[in-house]
Amino acid sequence: MTMRRFFTLLRLALAALLVLLASRAFRLSAQTPIQAANQKDHQRLLNLAGIEQLRPPATNDPKSPNATNYDESKANVYPNLPNPLLLADGQRVTSAKVWWSQRRPQIVALFDKEILGRPPAHLPRVRWQLVSTVRENNGPYPIVLKRLAGHVDNASDPQIAVTLDLVLATPANARGPVPVILQLGFPNQFKMALVRPIPESAPPTFGFYGIEWQRLLLARGWGYAVLDANSFQADNGAGLTQGIIGLANQGRPRSLDDWGVLRAWAWGASRALDYFATDPAVDAGQVGIQGHSRMGKASLVAMAYDPRFAIGFISSSGEGGAKLYRHIFGEQITDLAAPSEYHWMDGNFLKYAGPLNPGDLPVDNHELIALVAPRPLFIGAGSSTGDGYINRNGDAWADPTGMFLAEVAAGPVYRLLGKKDLGTSRLPPVGTALMSGDLAFRQHPGGHTPAPNWPAFIEFASRYLHAAAAASSSKAAR
Ligand code: GCU
Repeated sequence: MTMRRFFTLLRLALAALLVLLASRAFRLSAQTPIQAANQKDHQRLLNLAGIEQLRPPATNDPKSPNATNYDESKANVYPNLPNPLLLADGQRVTSAKVWWSQRRPQIVALFDKEILGRPPAHLPRVRWQLVSTVRENNGPYPIVLKRLAGHVDNASDPQIAVTLDLVLATPANARGPVPVILQLGFPNQFKMALVRPIPESAPPTFGFYGIEWQRLLLARGWGYAVLDANSFQADNGAGLTQGIIGLANQGRPRSLDDWGVLRAWAWGASRALDYFATDPAVDAGQVGIQGHSRMGKASLVAMAYDPRFAIGFISSSGEGGAKLYRHIFGEQITDLAAPSEYHWMDGNFLKYAGPLNPGDLPVDNHELIALVAPRPLFIGAGSSTGDGYINRNGDAWADPTGMFLAEVAAGPVYRLLGKKDLGTSRLPPVGTALMSGDLAFRQHPGGHTPAPNWPAFIEFASRYLHAAAAASSSKAAR
């Protein structure tokens, strides 16, 4: 090699190195402070767990060898589901008594440890304050709209203030306490529930997912409520030393089996239910919960962990919600384990994104559904070619089939407890509701939204929830 050539090559190599360094510096500086904090806490947990590297999340580039799978014929990589009716020692569960006394606690302990995490034994109390009460009309329905603030006792760490934001609407002309559906909501859903005056006719996009659902509930003589989940626990890893998780931990970062954000959001839903039990307008024995997407995941957790919730509408909850981890289609554990979502789960969960895999999980989400038994549960989704707004082809990132299969596999527990399951293991056509039993399922023809499934859910729920004054109040309102 001539000297000249050598220097040319050296110059090129230096230039390449500079470009590389600059792009890395750019990538780092392009992170928001929250993303940087997420990343740091994520890495801290990986170190705690002794995990060197996670498998990378799948990509949306269909040509990549690591592309997200959207081919049902390739989804059944782990065909063996853990059996919800087999005790840890291998014995069969054949009675409700053994389910309640032994098997159910075993399943709860596994979700606590490996997936969702455990809240500290003693959590601070919440004092509910009525912020305002107004009389309003929602469409043709007169309502009493209450805004409430749940102040969490922060004597243990006065630096951390936590307040739960809740809005409750009940029919103004109810003759007694009414059933209420609590929406575990995104901040926008909460804000829209407070907009006044409530527009007579609202565009489909109004209220984040429409307000039609509110009027459908009022027409039955029921009430609705929206809890802003982010008000008491931020939706990111950076916020884990704040909010209820941070307060309960006196501002310290989480250990591996401390609770994740899904359980914290579910905790908040339970505190809202505590409030309902003190409000004469609400029949606290008839409170249902609804949530969509990540709030669908948290609503399912709330149903599983708090037996006071009478019914649930779990919409497009997908991975980490009603879908089987073992169904390799759409979103995967590797996505949940990434710095943008790991905070929903506990630290122990990370290992299933490497070195372990979904087939190593000691439980799967059919068993989270089984924890809801014998109470009625409606699992909803958009269409298989629509409930996946992330993918350019509209493939279903939320994986409706994976949710259906989980619900089918929860069936034996419902039957053991004397209830009816879905009644079939064949996926129904989009738009056809399966709801002859106590487990219900429906895919609507749209995308990633709960709105089109509300009428079916309400029809299902009307078998279980009854407003004493429903007939007269809805007549009066019409
Ligand atoms: C992302 C995430 C999903 C989640 C959804 C949402 O798509 O991957 O798991 O359900 O956001 O909450 O909207």
